[in-house]
Amino acid sequence: MTDVTDEAAPVGLTETAGVTETAGVTETAGVTDAAGATDAAGAGLAARAAASLSRPFSVRGLTARNRIAMAPMTRQFSPDGVPGQDVADYYTRRAAADVGLIITEGTYVDHESAGTSDRVPRFHGDAALAGWGHVADSVHRAGGAIIPQLWHVGVTRTEGAGPVPDAEPVGPSGLSLSGEPKGRAMTQKDLDDVIAAFADAAAAAERLGFDGAELHGAHGYLIDQFLWSGSNRRTDAYGGDLVARTRFAAEIVAACRAAVSDAFPLFFRMSQWKSDNYEAKLAQTPQELDALLTPLAEAGVDVFHASTRRYWLPEFEDSDLNLAGWVKKISGRPTLTVGSVGLDGDFFGSFQGNDSRVTGIEQLLDRMERDEFDMVAVGRALIADPEWAAKSLRGRTADITPFSAEMLKHLH
Ligand SMILES: Cc1cc2nc3c(=O)[nH]c(=O)nc-3n(C[C@H](O)[C@H](O)[C@H](O)COP(=O)(O)O)c2cc1C
Repeated sequence: MTDVTDEAAPVGLTETAGVTETAGVTETAGVTDAAGATDAAGAGLAARAAASLSRPFSVRGLTARNRIAMAPMTRQFSPDGVPGQDVADYYTRRAAADVGLIITEGTYVDHESAGTSDRVPRFHGDAALAGWGHVADSVHRAGGAIIPQLWHVGVTRTEGAGPVPDAEPVGPSGLSLSGEPKGRAMTQKDLDDVIAAFADAAAAAERLGFDGAELHGAHGYLIDQFLWSGSNRRTDAYGGDLVARTRFAAEIVAACRAAVSDAFPLFFRMSQWKSDNYEAKLAQTPQELDALLTPLAEAGVDVFHASTRRYWLPEFEDSDLNLAGWVKKISGRPTLTVGSVGLDGDFFGSFQGNDSRVTGIEQLLDRMERDEFDMVAVGRALIADPEWAAKSLRGRTADITPFSAEMLKHLH
């Protein structure tokens, strides 16, 4: 087990017991392992990578110099919620090695129940914000763009844990993701406070010089608890059908939009899966996905980040499009894809201590060349090798350091 708690130490870890490395390997069978690529093959890959991944990406005032983003990953190296020099160096190292856009680890908004660890950075308070300002400056000096991921854990909060030990877990209905009693149902005041906390954080991000902000609407945390019928049984305007369940998320997006300038883009991370249920689906069909996305896009989402475990899996029947592909097609917004890029095992396996081997990115390039999505977010491969982007863009797959679960214990 690792020291990571967000998506880490998933509530339903035991439920992932059936997810094995083998599944990932089988499903990547079509992806050439370029580790042993010849120079010629490496050169061919480099040319393709350069053509599609090296293109700049712009949205509102943000320009990333290429299509490679670092996925948000909780690391818990910020004592008392303050990101220090080691955190700045960690992100800067990746920006200096050709990551176009850094999406920071989830960082707590200013609400007493938002967090569940003292070592996860906060996005409020003078000390934490000063730390974040330094991180942003440092990444910019290295040529990268950077956005924070703004986070409220909702009912997944562990009672008694920091940063506010007395704070009750809160959520739409006082229910866990699987519908068991947990925490307290949010009042209208709670909703207003949390909406304001996200808006304040977005405004702070712009003030500190970040290039945008990502709202964590995925993986069964607070925003997703409203989207998910298992945890949202409200009978007021925030509960009911899928469109009603998007209301809280849409109000957060709109409040953030109103708190920042036109130059500042808002990203929204969404997922079908939940931290205690990897097979969960918010949307069973493209029509349901449309019902979910339309209110969010109308509220002001500029970019959707579609979180999946394996980017090559089709999301719905009768089409090869992955989730990011569908979200782009339906919403008309640019999207990021993510999930086991460059690795043969998915990240649930990593939480169980499994290592992953390096794989090539040919299939990613195929999809990128078809314009299925706009950017690719890379998680564990970038923990393993800060130079993953630089090496991939140059076809140097054989030089990439593979991922080992041990690496989660250190910040490098
Ligand atoms: C250690 C670790 C921490 C993570 N923390 C977050 C997080 O704070 N927010 C989030 O949205 N996803 C989080 N994730 C999920 C990643 O962003 C990403 O979607 C996932 O690792 C799949 O990408 P990969 O296969 O390239 O690692 C985390 C993943 C890992 C491995």
